[in-house]
Amino acid sequence: MEDLLEDTVFLRLRVDGQLHELEVPPDLSLLDLLRDGLGLTGTHMGCMTGHCGACTVLIDGRVAKSCIAPAATLEREAITTIEGLAEPDGTLHPIQQTFWDEAGFQCGFCAPGMVLTTVELLQQNDDPTDEEIRSALNGNLCRCTGYQSLVRSVKAAAARIRESKTEAED
Ligand code: FES
Ligand code: FES
Repeated sequence: MEDLLEDTVFLRLRVDGQLHELEVPPDLSLLDLLRDGLGLTGTHMGCMTGHCGACTVLIDGRVAKSCIAPAATLEREAITTIEGLAEPDGTLHPIQQTFWDEAGFQCGFCAPGMVLTTVELLQQNDDPTDEEIRSALNGNLCRCTGYQSLVRSVKAAAARIRESKTEAED
């Protein structure tokens, strides 16, 4: 029994572009690895049951709830956290900047998950309708905004990204 408790799994994974080689307990969640192991506390801890979205990250570009993702299963995966979105010089990602400009949040607790979910949405659909935005944000709970400002922010972010792509093509 003692041996079982001491078992660890060797894991290589890339977090925000940086390769990490770690020994982790088999039942460690990705959320605990990010927050306690790597000090990336921008990934928030909420319900711990996969329902609130506060802990959302991207795993290989797809939205995932890190509280219910066992870290040991993520060998060689690429994780993106909210800390990894801005440029190294601190320039915010266009989605972060737009949420800021549009006052998309109040307390901001849901912000990392909302922003990362928007990253995935706009990669798949660069001009989503209100309904499509609400559907995409369905797994992320906000206790403050009533979602109007969030939907407005996602639409504005989509417009900004489309505009910058058009400018780049001209
Ligand atoms: S803390 Fe992971 S979904 Fe709520
Ligand atoms: S802004 Fe407070 S939880 Fe969303």
